[in-house]
Amino acid sequence: MLVLILSSILVSNANFVFSVNPVIFVPGDGGSQIEAKLNKTSSPAVYCEKHTSYYYTLWLDLSQISLAQNCFVDNMRLVYNSTTHRTQDSPGVSIQVPGFGNTNTVEFLDPGREEFTTYYFHIIERLIKEGYARNISLRGAPYDFRRSPNEFQDYFSKVKKLILETYKANNNSRVILMAHSMGSPTMLYFLNRQSQAWKDKYIRSLVTISGVWGGALKTLRLMSSGDNLGIFVVKPHLVREYQRSATSTAWLMPYDTFWGADEILVSQPKRNYTVNDYKQFFDDINYPAGYMMRKDTENLIKKLTPPGVEVFCIHGVNISTPAQLNFQNGFPDEQPSVKSGAGDGTVNIRSLLGCLRWQKQQSQPVHHYAESTFFFFFPSLLTFTKTEKMHLTLQYLQMV
Ligand SMILES: *[C@@H]1O[C@H](CO)[C@@H](O)[C@H](O)[C@H]1NC(C)=O
Ligand SMILES: *[C@@H]1O[C@H](CO)[C@@H](O)[C@H](O)[C@H]1NC(C)=O
Ligand SMILES: *[C@@H]1O[C@H](CO)[C@@H](O)[C@H](O)[C@H]1NC(C)=O
Ligand SMILES: *[C@@H]1O[C@H](CO)[C@@H](O)[C@H](O)[C@H]1NC(C)=O
Ligand SMILES: *[C@@H]1O[C@H](CO)[C@@H](O)[C@H](O)[C@H]1NC(C)=O
Ligand SMILES: *[C@@H]1O[C@H](CO)[C@@H](O)[C@H](O)[C@H]1NC(C)=O
Repeated sequence: MLVLILSSILVSNANFVFSVNPVIFVPGDGGSQIEAKLNKTSSPAVYCEKHTSYYYTLWLDLSQISLAQNCFVDNMRLVYNSTTHRTQDSPGVSIQVPGFGNTNTVEFLDPGREEFTTYYFHIIERLIKEGYARNISLRGAPYDFRRSPNEFQDYFSKVKKLILETYKANNNSRVILMAHSMGSPTMLYFLNRQSQAWKDKYIRSLVTISGVWGGALKTLRLMSSGDNLGIFVVKPHLVREYQRSATSTAWLMPYDTFWGADEILVSQPKRNYTVNDYKQFFDDINYPAGYMMRKDTENLIKKLTPPGVEVFCIHGVNISTPAQLNFQNGFPDEQPSVKSGAGDGTVNIRSLLGCLRWQKQQSQPVHHYAESTFFFFFPSLLTFTKTEKMHLTLQYLQMV
């Protein structure tokens, strides 16, 4: 039914379509809205809702995160099944990711507090000035960022359909995939599984903003102490239960193709951990399921097979970024002291530069643009898209 309505909208608008390359926005970790409906038999506290007759916004709702963290975490967490190597939603919680195909749920993250949670909004507004239109040449592909591509079969088939539909609705113009953070390796995984003929026909380019190509050290903090992500009201040990349970956290841990065996990632008085010590690391933090999650996901994009489409790889640089975590006797429950290195504030520079490996591995151009602006999370994407450089950036991306 919805499909019918959508395609009639697209057909009726066909006369007004400009000959632009349409864009599909793929968000990063935390960049999609998630809705939940509850029918639970237990909850962590009496004041947590157990039943709802409707889907409500679970992510992102700033007030819920600050006022009812334990309820939020219990609804957001995944349960790993070590038999099937698949994740399930928390018992009694049904989850949906709203807005697939549209941009509204990737423009802002908290529907109740749009002004504080701007995501792709500014770049979309700017493109509209260039003749683009929401729902026609600007589309969104949100997804359940708690999981990793080994569980994205349904999502990828929807993305493939969306690409085809968007191509047709825009006078058979090839589609630009614009991905942020975790969305970048997610799209790489997708493109690696399409034929070259299909990519040549339907994809104009892959634009990656802060692509995580070789993991990020910060994930080890989510796994060990938990991380309040700089929001002081958030209690790290509480949100850790969710952060650990997300297979995307395991997927984005540092890779041995980017970090050497002699580099200490995490230290505590009894031991140092390198990229080769994840088994020990998960045993010592008493979360052995984490090691299975890592094993399930570490080969998904490890070889960094070139995407086989033109790439625009853009990211921030010269911002201090977590490079090593040092714990004392309170490991892993205390907050570590963090040694900083180079990167965009979240992703280490070596990982951001992973896209450069393709320059000699594929015939399609791989453009690279780095700037010392905080590109990463939504405030950063905001900074980037608000700058006077926006027009230059779009010219650079060959979009205007
Ligand atoms: C559609 O594409 C064709 C061939 O590229 C072109 O001649 C035509 O002007 C385009 N139509 C519009 C509305 O842009
Ligand atoms: C809620 O779950 C119970 C089982 O725990 C089930 O019997 C009931 O039908 C469910 N209610 C709804 C509205 O799905
Ligand atoms: C894990 O999956 C298997 C196979 O579907 C199922 O039998 C088992 O109950 C699941 N385990 C848990 C803890 O849900
Ligand atoms: C895009 O589509 C969604 C859902 O169909 C709708 O709510 C929204 O108003 C549309 N936006 C525009 C600009 O047409
Ligand atoms: C960890 O590495 C540091 C620096 O190489 C070293 O001084 C320390 O002894 C190591 N700690 C353990 C427990 O091996
Ligand atoms: C980053 O810092 C290095 C060393 O200070 C400098 O050479 C480089 O130009 C800076 N890069 C950007 C994009 O600002």
